Amino acid sequence: MKEIHLDIRILSVSYDELDDRERALINAAKEATARSYSPYSKFAVGAAALLANGVTVTGSNQENAAYPSGTCAERTTLFYANSQYPDQPVLMLAIAARNASGFVSTPITPCGACRQVLLETEKRSGQPVRILLYGEKNIYILPGVKTLLPLSFGAEFLPAQEQATGT
Ligand code: THU
Repeated sequence: MKEIHLDIRILSVSYDELDDRERALINAAKEATARSYSPYSKFAVGAAALLANGVTVTGSNQENAAYPSGTCAERTTLFYANSQYPDQPVLMLAIAARNASGFVSTPITPCGACRQVLLETEKRSGQPVRILLYGEKNIYILPGVKTLLPLSFGAEFLPAQEQATGT
């Protein structure tokens, strides 16, 4: 028997330790929570993606009375980014969340489905997405989705196929 150790490292930083670009993206994610449609959970989540061409796109969670029909802020944002700018790698994704008492003090992390969509986003562009998770007390910086989704399932497990064209 062999034990396999997975080494996962994330940074915990303060707002002051961020650079200007990171601060702007976090601010955009926080602002995006104002456009959340979350009458059921009352938990407003915002996300902001910085694309390689310098464009920032934002999104928020959009809920539905038929609960599973709603979607998270991360997927709203990534699907919008990938559909409007299919050739632009997503460099960074910032996520912020607030409840009735304000922004969460410890960062929330993306759900499993959003992690899988982040993985596909990275695979499409061939580069990692730096992930910034906002909390009032601290901010986590993750170098890519691997830290959130080790042992992931990707296209490499599927039968060999023609080079994907993306269409
Ligand atoms: N939610 C997100 O938008 N992102 C996350 O990372 C976690 C959860 C949303 C889904 C739902 O609208 C609400 O938060 C409560 O789960």
